[in-house]
Amino acid sequence: MIDNKKVLFSGMQATGSLTLGNYLGALKNWVALSDEYECFYAVVDLHSITIRQDPAVLRKRARALLTLYIAAGLDPEKNCIYYQSHVSGHAELSWILSCFTYMGELNRMTQFKDKASKHADNINAGLYTYPVLMAADILLYQADVVPVGIDQMQHLELTRNIAQRFNAIYGDVFTIPEVYIGKAGAKIMSLQDPTKKMSKSDENPNASIYLMDDADAIRRKCRRAVTDSVGEFRYCEEQPGLRNLIDIYCACLNKTPDEVVKEFSGSGYGQFKEAVGEAVVSVLDPLQKRVAELEKDKAYIDSVIKNNAEKASYYSMKTLRKVQRKVGFPDRIR
Ligand code: TRP
Repeated sequence: MIDNKKVLFSGMQATGSLTLGNYLGALKNWVALSDEYECFYAVVDLHSITIRQDPAVLRKRARALLTLYIAAGLDPEKNCIYYQSHVSGHAELSWILSCFTYMGELNRMTQFKDKASKHADNINAGLYTYPVLMAADILLYQADVVPVGIDQMQHLELTRNIAQRFNAIYGDVFTIPEVYIGKAGAKIMSLQDPTKKMSKSDENPNASIYLMDDADAIRRKCRRAVTDSVGEFRYCEEQPGLRNLIDIYCACLNKTPDEVVKEFSGSGYGQFKEAVGEAVVSVLDPLQKRVAELEKDKAYIDSVIKNNAEKASYYSMKTLRKVQRKVGFPDRIR
C-alpha cells in the first residue's frame, strides 16, 4: 500500500512496433486502472536485451514507448512511468531471487521454450532467467495487482511461488501479487488469421494495425481483414474474423457486441469493415497527434524520466534494503 492505495505494476517491452492489440488490450486498461491504484509502469529494457538489439534502435524505441504511455493518458505526475534500466534495484533483486528459484521451475516456462526455438543461435542465460527478473520487477514495489495478458500468466504464477517461498523462510517480506486479466474482448487477434493473437512480430504487415499507421493504411488493412463465407452478421466463435472486427469496433467505441450486432444486422461485411476502419482511425489519429506534440517537448519528457526514476528508486530501495538484511548481507555504514 502506498498512501492507502493498492500498488499496481506492469511493463512493456520496446521491441517491435506496437500494435492496436497492445493499445486496446493493455494500455487502454492501464489508463482505466490508474485512478484506483498507485501505478508503476516500466519500459522493461533489461528484458529486451535477452534478444540481440541494435543499441540505437532500442534507445529510440524505449523513448517512443515511454512517450506513448503518456500520450495514451497516463498522467506521469500520478503514475510512475520509467525505464527499468534506470533503477538498479531490478537487477539486484533479480540476482537474489534467482537463488530462490529452481531450474526445474524455469525449465517449465513455455515462453522460454518458444523464444529459444525462435532464437536458436542465442539461447543466453538471461533469456532463461527472464521470469526471475520479471518477478523482481513486481515484488520490488510490493505490487498487489499486475495486469498482463494470458501469455504472461505462467510468469505471474512463478512470481507468486518465489514470493511465497521467500516469505516462508524470512517472514512477510513480499506482498503476494494477484494477476489482473483485462476485460473480455480486449484480446485483439490478427486480421489475417483470427485464431492468432495480433502480434508486433508478425511477418505479414496486413495482419497487424500498428499504432503509428496512417489513416489510409488502417482503412486498407480493415478492408482486407479475413472474414468468412457465412455472410451473416453474428458475434460467435464460428466466425472468428468477424468476431475480432466486432471486438475491435467495440473496444474503440466502448460499445458491446450486442449493440453492434443490432446496428449492423442486415448490412454486409464490406460496410462494417469500413466502419471498423473509421473507428480505429478515430482512436489512433488523436493518439498519434498527442505523441507528436509530446515528442516536440524534449525537456518535459526528460523531466518525467528523471523524476519518475527517482520515485521508482525510492520505493524499490525500501524493499531491496529489507531483502538484503533478511538474507544476511551486512548493514551499510552511514
Ligand atoms: N514479460 C512481459 C511481456 O513480455 C513484460 C514484463 C516484464 C512485465 N516485467 C513485467 C509485465 C512485470 C508485467 C509485470 O509482456
